Amino acid sequence: MKSITSESCSVHFNEFAFVALNDHLENASYSKVFILVDENTHEHCLPKFMPAIEQDYDFEIIEIESGEENKNISTCTRVWEVLSELNADRKSILINLGGGVITDLGGFVASTYKRGIDFINVPTTLLAMVDASVGGKTGVDLGSLKNQVGVINQPEMVLVVSDFLNTLDERQLQSGFAEMLKHGLIQDRSYWNTLKNGVDAKEIDQLIHHSVTIKNKVVLQDPTEQGLRKILNYGHTLGHAIESYFLESLEHESLLHGEAIAIGMVLEGWLSMQLQGLPEEDLIDIKNTFGKRYPTVSFSKKDIDTIISLLRFDKKNSHGNINFVLLNQIGDPALDVQIEEKLLHGAFAYYSE
Ligand code: GLY
Repeated sequence: MKSITSESCSVHFNEFAFVALNDHLENASYSKVFILVDENTHEHCLPKFMPAIEQDYDFEIIEIESGEENKNISTCTRVWEVLSELNADRKSILINLGGGVITDLGGFVASTYKRGIDFINVPTTLLAMVDASVGGKTGVDLGSLKNQVGVINQPEMVLVVSDFLNTLDERQLQSGFAEMLKHGLIQDRSYWNTLKNGVDAKEIDQLIHHSVTIKNKVVLQDPTEQGLRKILNYGHTLGHAIESYFLESLEHESLLHGEAIAIGMVLEGWLSMQLQGLPEEDLIDIKNTFGKRYPTVSFSKKDIDTIISLLRFDKKNSHGNINFVLLNQIGDPALDVQIEEKLLHGAFAYYSE
């Protein structure tokens, strides 16, 4: 499968991934190689990863606890301290082997340790393969607020090895699939049509490659999210607020990122019909597609009010306005749409119908 290369970062797939990694390690002559894992990737992914490395490097494994609740500055402090205790210098590299928590947090730790050391992302979840690990966004949550602290900094490379997907359960796979559906909604109607009725496992490599191609094209045009890159946040304005709310709530089970943004995409689809003229048949298509794949959540009035109040922390906000990405139609996004609060209640009413 062809690598996707650009000036800032390259993504290598499957058998080419390890060739690229070994070439890089040979040429870059790092003083030390650190590998960041959680307890799951330590057990299931590290044994697949280590034998693929040919160089005789001095490796150190750093393990953090899995889960979004650990994606915070205390975990970063622990990793910075371990790096320091193990004498990581500026010629060290951090390889992030894991899902979005590991690649986001590890990227941030590497970008700030001694003002920045190299890092490589090796995503092990579908979500991280098609979204989190690509594009250089790094960071951690602030309390329950998603990704409030971070920097944009590109990894040396991203290695997508689909064999790691065999370590995941169905719920995790569906969570990543939501980001792939989003790529269809914002850029490519025929991709949406391909994905929406389900795909065969044999096709997954090709589809991941297509999703990374879409994301990479957007990121290349607008790496620091001044404009176009915001389209990657379709479904995320409400989706992140829902995810944050469920993370903190004692009454609800937490939602996976993809489950939360699936709801966000239905809600923002309804807003798109009201404000951007998204055709009703497109909205029904969106609602049915997500409805078939993801659990339907019931929201009380208190839930909705709290979720709406969390929107003021969204990173796309400017000058006190909440800016949404909506759709004119499937494949055609609209940026920076401001929305009155009472319309948001209408979106939740539609979702719950
Ligand atoms: N996850 C959205 C972005 O990378 O811009």
